[in-house]
Amino acid sequence: MESFVVQGGKRLEGSLRVDGAKNAALPILAACVLTGDDVLLRGMPDITDVRRMIDILRMLGCRVIHQGHDITVSARDIGCCEMPDALSKQIRSSIFMLGPILSRFRRATVTYPGGCEIGLRPIDLHLSGLRALGVVIAEEGGVIHCDGRQMHAGEVHFDYPSVGATENVMMAAACLPGTTTIHNAAREPEIVDLQGFINALGGRVRGAGCATITIEGVDALHGADWTPMPDRIVAGTLLAAAAITGGQIELTNAPTSDMTAINAKLREMDCDVREEGSRILLSAPERLTAFPVLQTQPHPGFPTDMQVQMLALLSVAEGTGVIVENVFENRFTHAGDLNRMGARILCSGRTAIVRGVDTLYGARVTARDLRGGAALVLAGLRAQGETIIDHAALVDRGYEAFERQLSQLGADIRRIKANT
Ligand code: UD1
Repeated sequence: MESFVVQGGKRLEGSLRVDGAKNAALPILAACVLTGDDVLLRGMPDITDVRRMIDILRMLGCRVIHQGHDITVSARDIGCCEMPDALSKQIRSSIFMLGPILSRFRRATVTYPGGCEIGLRPIDLHLSGLRALGVVIAEEGGVIHCDGRQMHAGEVHFDYPSVGATENVMMAAACLPGTTTIHNAAREPEIVDLQGFINALGGRVRGAGCATITIEGVDALHGADWTPMPDRIVAGTLLAAAAITGGQIELTNAPTSDMTAINAKLREMDCDVREEGSRILLSAPERLTAFPVLQTQPHPGFPTDMQVQMLALLSVAEGTGVIVENVFENRFTHAGDLNRMGARILCSGRTAIVRGVDTLYGARVTARDLRGGAALVLAGLRAQGETIIDHAALVDRGYEAFERQLSQLGADIRRIKANT
C-alpha cells in the first residue's frame, strides 16, 4: 500500500497547467470502439482509471499504443463482445462499453460494474435507455446479457439526468438509422466533449449541454485526432488546495467557463478568483470565510465531485456552513477522518453541518474514495504537523502524480510505501 505524507503549513504558490479530464477521457476511450479506423487521442490524463480502460480495450481485441499523454486506439480487429469480468468490477466506467459494443456487434455481455464506493450507483438508467433503443436485456447472477439484433433509433426519456447513461445512449445510437432523441439528458461539459468527439468521427450529434440531445444515425464512423477538455475537478481541487493554505496560484489550460459554480463558492469564502481566457488566478485570505450553504446538483449546479474538497475547506473557515449532497447518498465518508484531525462536522443523512475551527492537527487517515482522498490531502496541507493518508492509489485513479503537482506549488508532500 502506498500513502501520502504531508507536512502541513506551507502556503501554495506558483503556476500549473491542467491535464485532460478523466470524465471526458473515459467515455471517449469507450467510443473508440465505434470505428475500425485509428483514433489518436492527445493530452489524455495519465491516471489509473485511463490505464484500466485501456486494459479493457486490449482484452476486447483493440490495439492500443499508450505513450505518455498520447493514446492511439485501433478497434479494427476487436473480436469480443464480452466485457472482462475482473476489470469491469474495478471500474464503473466499464459500463460505457455497452453502447459502443452493441453498436459494433449488436450484442454485449457485461458484469455489474465497480468503482468508488460513494453510493448505490445502480445502472437502471443505462439499461432503460438501451431498452428504448430496442435492446433486449437479461440479467442473471450479476451478468447482463444484451441482445441488440432489433436495435433501432428511438425516444429516450431519463427519469434523472445520469451522466453515464446519457453518454451510453449517445454512443449506442451514433450508427443507428434514423433519429434518436434523449430527453432530460445530463448537461455536464464532458458530454459536450463526447459529442464533439463523435462528430469528429463523422457522427451527427447535437444538443449536448442542453436537456435534449439529438443523434442522427450515420452509416459508419471513421478515425480522428482528438484532445479531451481539461479537467474541471482537478482544476477545482488545485484551487481548493491553494485556498486552504492561504496561497496564491495560477492555473493555465483551465475550463473556466465550466467552473462558474466552483469559482463562485471560492469567492463566497473570500478568495479572489479571476478568470482570464483559459487562466484562473486565485489569491486566498489567511482565513477563509464559511459559505452558508452548498448544495450539489447535476451540472450547471455545484459538482458532487468537488463537494468533499469544499468540506475540508469549510472545516477551517471562519463561521458555520451547511453542505447538502443531493447526487450520491453516501458521500460524507471522510467527515470522520476530518474530525479526527480536529474538524467539527456533524453529518445527518445527506447534510453536513460544519463549524469552522482555527487549526487542524496531523493524523493518520484513510482515503476511501478518489475525491475523499484528495480532500484529506488538502486538510493535511493546512494541518499542524504530519498527516499520513493511506490508500494513495485511490487518488491516483483521477489525479496524475498529485504529490508532484502539489510539490511544484511548494507543498511538502511525498509518497511512501506503507505497511498495511
Ligand atoms: C459521472 C462521473 C462522476 C460524477 C457523476 C455525477 C464519469 C466517469 N463519472 O458518474 O465522477 O460523480 O457523473 O456528476 O463521468 N443513477 C441511477 N441509475 C443509473 C445511473 C445513475 O440511479 O442507471 C444515480 C447514481 O446512483 C447517482 C446519480 O444517478 O446517485 C448520478 O449518477 P450519474 O450521473 O450516472 O454518474 P456517473 O455517470 O456514474
